[in-house]
Amino acid sequence: MTGPELALVPAAGLGTRMRPATRVVPKALLPVVDRPAVQHVAEEAVRAGVTEVIFVVDLGVGSLIRDHFTVGEPLPGLENLKVRIVVQEEPGGLGHAVLTARESIGDRSFFCLLSDNIVRPGADVLPSLAAASDGGSVVALREVGEHMLDRYGVAIPGERRGSELEVLGAVEKPGIENAPSNLGLVGRYLFTPEILEALANLEPGYGGEIQLTDAIDFVARRGRCRGVVGDSDLLDIGIPLGLLEAAVVLGLSRTEFRDGLTEFLRSLEELR
Ligand code: UTP
Repeated sequence: MTGPELALVPAAGLGTRMRPATRVVPKALLPVVDRPAVQHVAEEAVRAGVTEVIFVVDLGVGSLIRDHFTVGEPLPGLENLKVRIVVQEEPGGLGHAVLTARESIGDRSFFCLLSDNIVRPGADVLPSLAAASDGGSVVALREVGEHMLDRYGVAIPGERRGSELEVLGAVEKPGIENAPSNLGLVGRYLFTPEILEALANLEPGYGGEIQLTDAIDFVARRGRCRGVVGDSDLLDIGIPLGLLEAAVVLGLSRTEFRDGLTEFLRSLEELR
């Protein structure tokens, strides 16, 4: 099944966990190997058949994200990508960022990709989201460790067949005591416009913010959400260790760097 041709990439977060790197530079522009994180994400969207990306950026330095994609020669592989920018004037959280793009999205279904999560090489998840869709929304899930249950939105699982399941609801950062499962929402989604309607009608939730997880809960309780459980995690460049790991994993996947980087890592091993 073919997926949406539109992708939304929220990239307006403050990135406080990556300070001081993000004092001036947006988190989405931190480089991983030889290109910013947000370009890896745009390339992933294009691999899934996306022809238009809406980036949600912050009012201050967010325009640098637009410049990266629009100034100078077109980026290889992204020549035909239509790039649109929506400004989130206040950092009101992820749900608010998605809602900010409502007018630009209109009545289209769309993939949503968090700009601080990068897929591992060869482990794209968007095609499996499109394949699992029955006309409603689909969320990427992963089995997460107990200590992660206060860091992710967590799904209330229904009937499961293989890697696909009905999602009956979702809870934001429940913690181990209240978690309905160990299935975390990992930053890749296929949404119908229903999610925007749900977001528009939500009261602030966890942390006093409009939560995307609460909107997923809303559509899921109406039988309009499925999930796909992946077996590999995404690289989280929003924390320093994750950024380091992402550089190594993506560096090793590139033929021009593989030998030199492998040799370097082996030399470190010998030092221990
Ligand atoms: P995070 O939860 O990682 O928040 O955002 P953050 O503000 O970026 O980082 P910290 O917690 O301060 O270190 C998840 C995704 O949602 C986007 C971020 O850019 C990231 O891709 N986001 C978050 C927005 O677009 N706007 C917001 O107001 C908050």
